[in-house]
Amino acid sequence: MDSQITLRVDGAAHPLAVDTRTTLLDALRERLRITSPKKGCDHGQCGACTVLLDGRRVNSCLVLAVTVGDAEVTTSDGLAVDDVPHALHRSFVEHDAFQCGYCTPGQVCSAAGILAEARAGWPSAVTPDVAADTVELTDDEIRERMSGNLCRCAAYANIVPAVADVARAEGVRR
Ligand code: FES
Ligand code: FES
Repeated sequence: MDSQITLRVDGAAHPLAVDTRTTLLDALRERLRITSPKKGCDHGQCGACTVLLDGRRVNSCLVLAVTVGDAEVTTSDGLAVDDVPHALHRSFVEHDAFQCGYCTPGQVCSAAGILAEARAGWPSAVTPDVAADTVELTDDEIRERMSGNLCRCAAYANIVPAVADVARAEGVRR
């Protein structure tokens, strides 16, 4: 059965009719031709499809498009403003934090998500003081929080400093 929905993606509204079983990832890629979110596993295991939903990161392969409602979908492309790359985009380039680049849009969206989580003081499994108001994005915190984003090229050694530099610039790391 088809449903009429409007997806708000990277600042633009896209009306479309979708089968109610369509995932957000498939709606973005196959219907709207927005291809920066990648399909790796289609099972919530690799993070290649990560986007932000009202600023919170989700695996878009696990979200049904009909459940998105009015939430703003932000892809890695949408993190750029007026074609000016986001600080995370620049840092990934400066740190050579990718090889094939397939996982990179998901890594960047996830990194944007963890910066917001740290600012909000959300603890992770490795946070020493879960009652603290803020969280410092140490290397351990970055590794733990980014652990849902796999990189088959194993660029992890450069992804961590790429995220750390932006965390420092945003005041969530010393
Ligand atoms: S494609 Fe969504 S987590 Fe792998
Ligand atoms: S850069 Fe190739 S999968 Fe991560």
